[in-house]
Amino acid sequence: MMDLSVTIAGVRFPSCVMNAAGALCVTREELVALGRSRAGAIVTKSMTLEPRQGNPEPRYKSFPGGSINSMGLPNLGYQAYAQLIPELRTFQKPVIASVAGFSEEDFVTIASAINACRPDLIEVNLSCPNIPGKPQIGYDAEASERLLKRVRKVVSVPMGVKLPPYFDPAHHEHMARMLGRVEVDFLSLINSVGNGLVVDSETETVVIKPKGGFGGLGGTLIKPVALANVRAFWKLFEGRLPIIGTGGVVSGADVFEHLLCGASAVQVGTVLVEEGLGVFERLETELGALLRQKGYPSPEACRGKLKEL
Ligand code: DHB
Repeated sequence: MMDLSVTIAGVRFPSCVMNAAGALCVTREELVALGRSRAGAIVTKSMTLEPRQGNPEPRYKSFPGGSINSMGLPNLGYQAYAQLIPELRTFQKPVIASVAGFSEEDFVTIASAINACRPDLIEVNLSCPNIPGKPQIGYDAEASERLLKRVRKVVSVPMGVKLPPYFDPAHHEHMARMLGRVEVDFLSLINSVGNGLVVDSETETVVIKPKGGFGGLGGTLIKPVALANVRAFWKLFEGRLPIIGTGGVVSGADVFEHLLCGASAVQVGTVLVEEGLGVFERLETELGALLRQKGYPSPEACRGKLKEL
């Protein structure tokens, strides 16, 4: 089996495939199971100040081509994750703490306390699309800059930002200039494509309960959006800011496409929820075989090597 380890912001990952924040990573049991699995890291659910039950069910549904969710940040609250991090660190892989919040103050309080537990990295989530009445911070560059500058001051471990998808080069450029003024160490791209709507024509209904059926889209159908965002930021930072690619990974070939666009590693959400923890071994096997067949000795050897016509 090929060595699929990678290094991001100075941290070694035993495999370049890990869970996406939100997927099977809320409870202690789920996080420990990720530790025992072939996942290349343990990424936590985005944590808030207080524990949360999340939105009413049904709040996740898969369909041909992907998934829609409006979970509403169900999580144990940051103090529970702070207590868990020492145990999670005993697995031989990085721990990535995903931090969310409802105000700048929340983000700073949580990031500061979690940083003290020394997760290997912190991912600041600027892109939860599912809180009624709360626009995603990541669609407001000024608010994002203010918040990230404050969080950066209290975080000493490598700090990354999880961004929503952007659909215009002007937005990529604007966000990249902003990120250049904040010292971020990596990007996680992309969060779910927010506020889609899935309709069941048979029952003539929406398929999830919160927000009238609107929710974040994931899975195969968002892959081109994810690849475009990985590629756009890779180019804007001239390959010098590590990127974790997320969105539409179902096969080893999908991982390879993210790597070609510039990702150093990938995260899996929908396919992990649908297939379970065995997905990591399958994707490693498929990616290893594909890289060998193509003559690449490692994931890093093909990073960013996408050819243009
Ligand atoms: C939720 C969904 C997201 O896409 C996210 O980034 C954070 C939280 C959620 O609804 O729980």
